[in-house]
Amino acid sequence: MSTQGQDQAQDLYRRAQKALAGKKVLSALRLLEEAANLDPAMPGLNEMRAQCLAGLGRFQEAHAAAEAELRINPGSTKAAELKQKVGEVLRQLAARSAEERQWASSLRPEFLQQIEASTHRYTYRGHPMIKNPFDFALYPLLLWNLKPASVFEIGSFNGASALWMADLLKSYGVASHIWSLDIVKVTAIEREDITFLAGSGRALGEVFPAEMLAGCPRPWLVIDDADHTRDTSIAVLQHFHPHMREGEYIVVEDGLTAEGPKQALTEFLPAHPGAYTIDPAYCDFFGYNATWCINGFLRRNG
Ligand SMILES: C[S@@+](CC[C@H](N)C(=O)[O-])C[C@H]1O[C@@H](n2cnc3c(N)ncnc32)[C@H](O)[C@@H]1O
Repeated sequence: MSTQGQDQAQDLYRRAQKALAGKKVLSALRLLEEAANLDPAMPGLNEMRAQCLAGLGRFQEAHAAAEAELRINPGSTKAAELKQKVGEVLRQLAARSAEERQWASSLRPEFLQQIEASTHRYTYRGHPMIKNPFDFALYPLLLWNLKPASVFEIGSFNGASALWMADLLKSYGVASHIWSLDIVKVTAIEREDITFLAGSGRALGEVFPAEMLAGCPRPWLVIDDADHTRDTSIAVLQHFHPHMREGEYIVVEDGLTAEGPKQALTEFLPAHPGAYTIDPAYCDFFGYNATWCINGFLRRNG
């Protein structure tokens, strides 16, 4: 980058400092965005962007900006403090939004019963697969956005959902591996990027011990699609929780049609306040909880 570009960026940065001192947060942010186009690695720039974004209530972006500053400038105590403070706000917001969500769906019961019956006749590449049209559309969004390098599916059924996700990820150019577990191991599908396993969602330590999980590339997507009882869902949540990192997802399926996932989530989430955000980007994409995974798309917070 030219010295002229750096000088211009410095000038914009100083003007942003003044604007911020005068409480003109939006003007400061605009100047900083201009400066970032010229000199994205300027020390201090992302820290001030984080301040402005937090001041505007854009906490996710503020958190990301503070992290960007710390990557460029690891010794910045201001950026570290901001990251910590904004992280706390995000945790509180996530805890509040989890409490405020309803266990209801905009899908009408008679409509969803029809769909539920049809999902049992659905096939993917000739293999029976139990997915409704809403989640059939939502998973591709999540897979594209998250680009999971490891997917853990509890409840393989005939293996078609694992096959479908593997096909999608391959078509997206995402190198991934799917670990799909069922009490009855799938043998009809063989692929290098899928491992089908036999085991129970209630005894995951036997199949996915911590040493094995430590070697699984990030990010992760965990899917609980087993027997939809409280005991299995909570066992899945508790097994993976200590290993989940910020931005990764656990999807708890079928709270729409079974009580178990709801019982597990209403017990697990308050016991881990702020650890997860029930992500409305997926839960509410087609309407409030217009998914079989009601309140079940959980994004791990930092
Ligand atoms: C709803 S189906 C899975 C559907 C599949 N993921 C799909 O989308 O096509 C539930 C599966 O969970 C399995 N299952 C039941 N209890 C289980 C447990 N405790 N642990 C693991 N799998 C279990 C059943 O054998 C069944 O194949």
